[in-house]
Amino acid sequence: MIMTKILVALVSCLGILAHALPGMADGGHSSKLEVTNRLVFAHFMIGITSDRHSAADYDDDMKRANALGIDAFALNIGVDPYTDQQLQFAYDSAARNSMKVFISFDFNWWNTGQAWAIGQKIAQYADKPGQLMVDNKVFVSSFAGDGLNVESLRAAAGRPIFFAPNFHPSDGTDISSVDGLLNWMAWPNNGQNKAPTPGQNVTVADGDKVYVNALAGKAYIARESAPPILRPPDVSDTTTPPAVSPWFSTHFGPEVSYSKNWVFPSDLLWYDRWNEILQLGPRFIEIVTWNDYGESHYIGPLNSIHTDDGASKWVNDMPHDGWLDISKPFIAAFKDGAKSATSYIKSDELVYWYRPAPRGVDCDATDTCMVPANNGSGNYFIGRPDGWQSMQDAIFVVSLLQSPGTVQVNSGGTLYQYEAPAGAFAQQVPMQVGVPAFTVLRNGSPVLSGTSLKPIINGCVCGLYNFNAYVGTLPLELSDPLLQDGLAAFNQGLRVQTCQPSPSLGTVPPPSTAPTTTSFIGPTTSTPPTTPPTTPPDTPPSTPPTSCPTTCPTTNCGGSTVTVSVTTTSTTTQTDIVTVSQTAPSEPTGGGGGDGGRNDCTAGTGPGNYVGLCNFCCKFGYCPPGPCTCTGYGSLVPAPPSTGWHGIPLSSEDNSYLGLCSFACDHGYCPPTACMIV
Ligand SMILES: *[C@@H]1O[C@H](CO)[C@@H](O)[C@H](O)[C@H]1NC(C)=O
Ligand SMILES: *[C@@H]1O[C@H](CO)[C@@H](O)[C@H](O)[C@H]1NC(C)=O
Repeated sequence: MIMTKILVALVSCLGILAHALPGMADGGHSSKLEVTNRLVFAHFMIGITSDRHSAADYDDDMKRANALGIDAFALNIGVDPYTDQQLQFAYDSAARNSMKVFISFDFNWWNTGQAWAIGQKIAQYADKPGQLMVDNKVFVSSFAGDGLNVESLRAAAGRPIFFAPNFHPSDGTDISSVDGLLNWMAWPNNGQNKAPTPGQNVTVADGDKVYVNALAGKAYIARESAPPILRPPDVSDTTTPPAVSPWFSTHFGPEVSYSKNWVFPSDLLWYDRWNEILQLGPRFIEIVTWNDYGESHYIGPLNSIHTDDGASKWVNDMPHDGWLDISKPFIAAFKDGAKSATSYIKSDELVYWYRPAPRGVDCDATDTCMVPANNGSGNYFIGRPDGWQSMQDAIFVVSLLQSPGTVQVNSGGTLYQYEAPAGAFAQQVPMQVGVPAFTVLRNGSPVLSGTSLKPIINGCVCGLYNFNAYVGTLPLELSDPLLQDGLAAFNQGLRVQTCQPSPSLGTVPPPSTAPTTTSFIGPTTSTPPTTPPTTPPDTPPSTPPTSCPTTCPTTNCGGSTVTVSVTTTSTTTQTDIVTVSQTAPSEPTGGGGGDGGRNDCTAGTGPGNYVGLCNFCCKFGYCPPGPCTCTGYGSLVPAPPSTGWHGIPLSSEDNSYLGLCSFACDHGYCPPTACMIV
């Protein structure tokens, strides 16, 4: 059932029409009305909910979605014998939980010769109170279905419908009879349903443009048959990418008939896409998905009642509830037409996620996808999921803060620290083996603190290449285990004996590695940090700090204060950062010489990646020849005060950056493209 259920961008045809026909579009509607017109859908797989026995079994999903601000579930249906029973339950539950639903016909199972039957199916549910109505029409969608006779479908439905199928105008499909279109591609891709490569790289926005352009072309035709669209023109409709999906990873081997094994680049997609949505402001968006565990893009809970299509191997112990939390302020902002989620954050929360192992780990000896399998779909690959190189080895952190805070992430014994502003803010730190721990501080006191329940291992979870994400939160959320039905196929195909078909996260975190070093992630601007550590040292640093950049120029280094941070740790969750300041041996600064300092460098430049560093450093008299060229001389301009940040070159850069990073970071300019703070 899950098949290639790739998710959904919904492009409103009506918005385009209004844009194309501004004279008809302004029928008295204020922009306020327009924004309250916005709707959020979430794709819901009926194909894995055959084990639900009453409408009550849908209540929890409906309530959670409603509380988030989701307006309707798109009920994805095939032709299974249980489909009608489950639709009935879902419609009934929606009606009593202030939710709406609509049917999304899945043409993996339906065929285009069934237009009449599909119209009748629409009619069967159209009058139910749970049915989503848009512009007084029954809303209906699909997965694929190009070539369907839409007029026949409308005739069989016997009432006005708002038909927004997932047709593909790029294939030449006639779309003159639709009201809107869904674009399923919610992930950066190569144009052929796989991860992008440098030569073949299609963004989600690129894909949406194809749809938007097709709909714009259609608008003129629609004018004849469609009523005037009472909606102000919205320029964003022509560019919006309204798909919102957090992740994509699937790993079905020969143990099922629908073998497929690939990933799309996901990483911070969820955060980035939401921000794009706020900027672009489409009329509808669809979250991809609520409960498609097989492709790892579920945001609904693991304990949402469902059967196991074989996904539990990479879904067990991998809750995504934190992603659901992130969407809440963004949905609220979206509906208000706001461009930022900041004022919609009602309490402090930290959401973090990571894959359970580095991408390079070798699981060939025990993985399930090491032998040939059905590749009729072209989606099956042996070994590591296709596209694995597009995923970064990082811990991704989104802070939802009411006021600014300092975030600390302990990744494998390195404490990464950065300043997070109020609002929603994303950061990533290198993934290291161990149990990550997190703290948010304000005025030096922790406001949120906790250790993840899920270790990062240098190995293979259940013997597998598991590219799903574990999503954790602070404060810690209630445990969300897979239920028994959702684990039924866990052992199918598994080649290790060490894994049990039962949830194992528990509620007590495993011990985290005590941090031994601290790494400051600097601001990307030249603004000096506002809260350098100031606690006096209680232990000397084990390695004496270098007092000067190794390529120290003859002037201007002397007398500068070089500050090194070391970390001492008493427990796994409590960390004291102490700062050791050491004044470098005094050197003449040039001011005492006979030339009055006129020979100090006051401006300079450098090639390529050096340019920012040379601009900054040369201005303050530190202009190492080689990378930099001094272009102006005069009296020494004092550098900004020492920040206490000790910068070194990124591992990808050579030693020519040593002095520049050291000097620049210490004075508040630490470009992340060249330097890092240690
Ligand atoms: C694809 O393009 C995006 C946006 O330009 C870029 O960030 C990404 O690195 C590219 N991916 C590949 C594989 O080239
Ligand atoms: C499956 O088909 C795709 C598309 O033709 C191909 O790229 C891939 O290598 C095939 N997988 C295997 C295991 O042969």
